[in-house]
Amino acid sequence: MKSLHVAMLGCGVVGTEVARRILENGDDLAQRTGARLELTAVAVRDADKERPGIPAELLTTDAQAAIAGADIVIELMGGIEPARELILAALRSGASVVTANKALLAESYGELMQAADSAEVRLEHEAAVAGAIPIIRPVGDSLAGDRITRVMGIVNGTTNYILDQMDSEGWDFDTALRTAQELGFAEADPTADIGGHDAAAKAAILAAIAFHTPVTIDDVDVEGITGVTADMIETARAQGFTIKLLAICEELADSPEGPGVSARVYPALLPRDHVLSGVGGAFNAVFVEAEAAGELMFYGQGAGGAPTASAVLGDVVSVGRRKVLGGRGQYERAVAVRRPVLPISA
Ligand code: HSE
Repeated sequence: MKSLHVAMLGCGVVGTEVARRILENGDDLAQRTGARLELTAVAVRDADKERPGIPAELLTTDAQAAIAGADIVIELMGGIEPARELILAALRSGASVVTANKALLAESYGELMQAADSAEVRLEHEAAVAGAIPIIRPVGDSLAGDRITRVMGIVNGTTNYILDQMDSEGWDFDTALRTAQELGFAEADPTADIGGHDAAAKAAILAAIAFHTPVTIDDVDVEGITGVTADMIETARAQGFTIKLLAICEELADSPEGPGVSARVYPALLPRDHVLSGVGGAFNAVFVEAEAAGELMFYGQGAGGAPTASAVLGDVVSVGRRKVLGGRGQYERAVAVRRPVLPISA
């Protein structure tokens, strides 16, 4: 069986989970991909820090050396630079890239996609929006023949966790934020979460894909949850509402300035019986409205190591299949197909 060399940039909560799964589930991933995924290097800031489950010899502080010769580069370092330069270098060298870097994509989507197209490789980013929820491919591919009019939802797990704990458990803001950090939901700098900028980056990416137009984070109106107090949550609850941080991207057919698209993020009051009010913890939910398809809803774990690793690894297997099988990616497991005995209803 062929091997594909995989280099990873960054090894935080998500990276550790991705690396561990590549190393531990090698046979299964090889079956699915049609090639063995050989983790060749993990570029980190501090190579002396112990990372359980990851052999020390894979760790390096030399990111350029890590990507040299790689077939697939997984970028999980976050931030704009050096992630942007490293991704561009990897693409130009012929590697496909998988990234969860929403801040970078929300700033340089067009440039990065163009670089991937020119190099005839893939740049996949399912993990950049809404953790484990498949949303990039449905919006970008499955609905490409339809006309999307609106994408709306909860796309930041940390703020949803904070608001939910304040509402359902009466926690104060700081305790809820600290716990979200401990659980691995929050960004390294959680001001991106609570200030709404993480959700705004995701809104920009969704709007760019849904409306085929170069929306960047600078085009998104943002208000985070730092102004939301326990009193506000209590008052909202007494009146039958919850407060949720929403991202709304829509096509404006008849705005005063003419047609266009808009994207915004703000804490919204929702009736308690609204389906988004029931989205608790670090879960995310995204509604998509399209002309022919009507309403679609996507729901699942929007943050955290394992859920986000699931989306990253899905992209890794997908680009790996393209490299070895030209995208067909058929595989069979030696597993019995059984016919369950159904209970006979009266
Ligand atoms: N900090 C992000 C969140 C991680 O809470 O949703 C997932 O993108």
